[in-house]
Amino acid sequence: MNQFCVEGNKKLNGNVIISGSKNAALPILFMSILTNHKVKISNVPKLTDIDLAIQLLKYIGAEIKHQKCILIDPKPIKLICPPQNLISKIRGSIWMLAPLLTRFNQAKIFFPGGCQIGKRPIDLHLKGLKKLGATIRIKKNSIQAFITKRMKGTHILMEKISVGATVTIISAAVLAEGLTVIENAAREPEIVDIAKFLNTLGANITGAGNKKIFIKGVSKLNGGKHKVIPDRIETGTFLVAAAISKGRVICKKTEPKHLKQVLKKLSDSGAIIKFGKNWISLDMRGKRPHSVDISTAAYPGFPTDLLAQFTLLNSISKGKSKITETIFENRFMHVPQLIKMGANITTTQEKNIICCGVPKLFSKNVFSTDLRTSATLILAGCIAEGITQVHKIFHLFRGYEYFSKKLNLIGANIKRNNKK
Ligand code: EPZ
Repeated sequence: MNQFCVEGNKKLNGNVIISGSKNAALPILFMSILTNHKVKISNVPKLTDIDLAIQLLKYIGAEIKHQKCILIDPKPIKLICPPQNLISKIRGSIWMLAPLLTRFNQAKIFFPGGCQIGKRPIDLHLKGLKKLGATIRIKKNSIQAFITKRMKGTHILMEKISVGATVTIISAAVLAEGLTVIENAAREPEIVDIAKFLNTLGANITGAGNKKIFIKGVSKLNGGKHKVIPDRIETGTFLVAAAISKGRVICKKTEPKHLKQVLKKLSDSGAIIKFGKNWISLDMRGKRPHSVDISTAAYPGFPTDLLAQFTLLNSISKGKSKITETIFENRFMHVPQLIKMGANITTTQEKNIICCGVPKLFSKNVFSTDLRTSATLILAGCIAEGITQVHKIFHLFRGYEYFSKKLNLIGANIKRNNKK
């Protein structure tokens, strides 16, 4: 696997242009299956997960032009069973199930993949589809879904907040008969963006972003165009880069209102935060941050996707801190790698990360294990003593567009080498 050589002792200063949101773009691409008309999607980040989604859509028959924007003609789609070797690479491929079922009255999806941050079950997706009238058969490594007539809107109380399952149910309800109400729905900005896209095509969704979402079924969807929202997790990652390196970074083309909890924690760490309509600046004024206690939660709580980055922040901050993960079972894979670099971290059975801040980390050979750990280890290398080798960086390209290039533009020195 190739790796990055990251030079340490850097102070990161400058402007970063934030890319479109991976976790909005992925579902929106798959939602195009619901219509026979052309859709144009802009601000889609160049990521391997996006490339995979495009491969999957092309495989089932969609015609796609991927220039600055992504032009999709879903009319030729005819296959209802995408290939396992593609489906099993990303979590987002589960979002093909409901649209294919709606369009063809049947679908077969192999179990999805994604970061190994937990069991990643799909029971809530399937329960929602059953409540809408689908018959679900679980085979050895695939799911088959059938309907004999148009799905029927109903009231669905989510036993657990799930971004993915909320998307699946919305995508099944938009063309169902009658009203669907999703209670205890996920409230992430990505859900709001997906609803906005579907409404542009003619859906009738209200309440997205709240705990209760109402979907009035329509008979068909049209075409349309949509610009994907900025990536709030990439934004948070670059703000942490400024905080840990005692620098000053301005994130542009982003959305401050998607990061309220994150900005509060960064301010609590001693950073000077300023923001406008589509930009956020963080100035550490050369000072070492204070550590901050965090408990992750579904939006608008503190995002689990920034847990690894804030573990790094706390590792080099003044004081002792506790981070509690409440969403996934196995989101601590970054911890052993940071300990290798000199961090003083312990974890508990109750999914707590206890950090005692140290003044310095030291370069080591470290290994990425998932998307957010990759970004965190590269940032750790930027501030460590010496040159850090970050291995298995293929994880990074799943979710960060031009990450090393953007960091090098604000003072980092990251080189890629392809030694085995
Ligand atoms: C989405 O994952 C994101 N991925 C994740 O981002 C993000 O961390 C997560 O939402 C939470 O915000 C994409 O959008 C592609 P969930 P998802 O369904 O949909 C349990 C990243 O780094 N659950 O909200 O898989 C589940 O195990 C990735 O960009 C069930 O029990 O997350 C978890 O404990 C990582 N049954 C909790 O719910 C189900 O059927 C939340 O999962 C579905 C989920």
